[in-house]
Amino acid sequence: MLSKKIEEAINAQINAEMWSAYLYLSMAAYCHLMGQTGMARWNEVQFKEEQDHAKILFNYVIQRNGKVTLSPIKAVPTEWKSLLDVFESILEHEQKITAMINKLFALSTEENDYATQSMLKWFVDEQVEEEENAQTIIDNLNMIKDNGFGIFMLDKELGARVYAQAAPLANSTL
Ligand code: FEO
Repeated sequence: MLSKKIEEAINAQINAEMWSAYLYLSMAAYCHLMGQTGMARWNEVQFKEEQDHAKILFNYVIQRNGKVTLSPIKAVPTEWKSLLDVFESILEHEQKITAMINKLFALSTEENDYATQSMLKWFVDEQVEEEENAQTIIDNLNMIKDNGFGIFMLDKELGARVYAQAAPLANSTL
């Protein structure tokens, strides 16, 4: 059984993950507009990953006999100054998500909720990867600057990203 505090915090996290999904889809639209189909694809894969993150939490609340409460998803930005601005915004956003996950982890410690802690470990590791991915692309863009060929090559590389369902969903019957 989940405590009310944990249930509320996980429901807030579900909303944050859905907002993230919406943000990445908006970024994909912007990248398409800028003619960067590879970067758009990268963001579309991330859009799917974020929905997985929300679903992992959704499934967990149900497994623990809790109540999932879906709240409205707030509007997301639709304009960025540049491609670099997109990926810098991603890093900033993922750092905020990491802070939310850490807070949730700390709350589960306070509440002696070890099952929630165990479930959250996957998210702790995932956030390391999410921040690293954004940072790598920022580093590449900073190196390339306005070099058209460099942008072309990076766009090709990012377009090769393939969606893979998040591991915690693999054996789920929910
Ligand atoms: Fe679900 Fe990108 O954090």
